[in-house]
Amino acid sequence: MMDWTDRHCRVFHRLMSRRARLYTEMLTTGAIIHGDRRRLLGFDPSEHPVALQLGGSDPADLADAAEIGEDFGYDEINLNVGCPSDRVKDGRFGACLMAEPALVADGVAAMKRAVRIPVTVKCRIGIDDQDPEVSLDVLARGVIAAGSDALIVHARKAWLNGLSPKENRDIPPLDYDRVYRLKAALPHVPVIINGGIASIAEARQHLTHVDGVMLGRAAYQEPWRLLNVDAGLFDATAPHATIKQVFEAMMPYIERELAQGTWLHSITRHFVGAFHGVPGARAFRRHLAEKGVKPGAGADVLREAIALVDERAVAPMAA
Ligand SMILES: Cc1cc2nc3c(=O)[nH]c(=O)nc-3n(C[C@H](O)[C@H](O)[C@H](O)COP(=O)(O)O)c2cc1C
Repeated sequence: MMDWTDRHCRVFHRLMSRRARLYTEMLTTGAIIHGDRRRLLGFDPSEHPVALQLGGSDPADLADAAEIGEDFGYDEINLNVGCPSDRVKDGRFGACLMAEPALVADGVAAMKRAVRIPVTVKCRIGIDDQDPEVSLDVLARGVIAAGSDALIVHARKAWLNGLSPKENRDIPPLDYDRVYRLKAALPHVPVIINGGIASIAEARQHLTHVDGVMLGRAAYQEPWRLLNVDAGLFDATAPHATIKQVFEAMMPYIERELAQGTWLHSITRHFVGAFHGVPGARAFRRHLAEKGVKPGAGADVLREAIALVDERAVAPMAA
């Protein structure tokens, strides 16, 4: 999620679920081809399985960027056909491509020729005055014919004329049934549903209709929910029982990053929702906000902040 997630966040999330697939924020083909690749694409080996999400529409650029991503070791290349931001609209990336399904299919075909790892597409059900019965069907069939290995569908339209990017994540109504109908129409295609899914219990409900569930804001804002992913969705054991244990397990990574000059705050900023609803959570956040942002702040600041949280704090089980 642009401006929210990064590699530090993914390391944190991976310590809560071995099984969930993690996605990078959208990176444009231009940035990948011309930018500082090590900074943009570098990731910790613990993050696997991790997908690189691309923003772009030129098939040759998409193929080049996908190949670079594969060389960096990503497990999947995902094409963004859902992001409604203005910047993105101007550059012919993201949701506006719902109106150009043939171009998207060409892009997928080019990426498939360039890499051996899976190529997937994340889209909306439609944009503006499109009829979602048609727009989602046309997009889906086009990219599947071009070789897309799965579809992730944010189950609402994007209204590109009139709504801000933020409003476009909440205001167009969710239509989960439309995504279920897509799965029924294309039973052989892995379909992953996204949008407004607030808990692992809700995710389980969706899994009776589709093959996968993607959590965006819930995973970021209430990360403790991820402690229930492996047990609740994969019938597997969670890597750690509590967030406190997750932080302990993350300390060597944090120490390593600090030694390389990473600012403590750029890691701990992802921890704001870690102790949601637990006594001491506010003191934890305040300590990090006051002390963690100072230049030279070390891992001790995080240890002190954790000590402010109730010792009995365990992962809320109603995830
Ligand atoms: C701050 C922010 C940044 C986002 N950036 C991306 C992005 O880079 N790529 C993407 O596919 N979706 C992005 N999204 C959309 C989410 O992935 C997701 O589709 C949307 O928020 C609906 O799902 P949710 O209700 O589970 O959050 C972003 C959402 C937010 C709130």
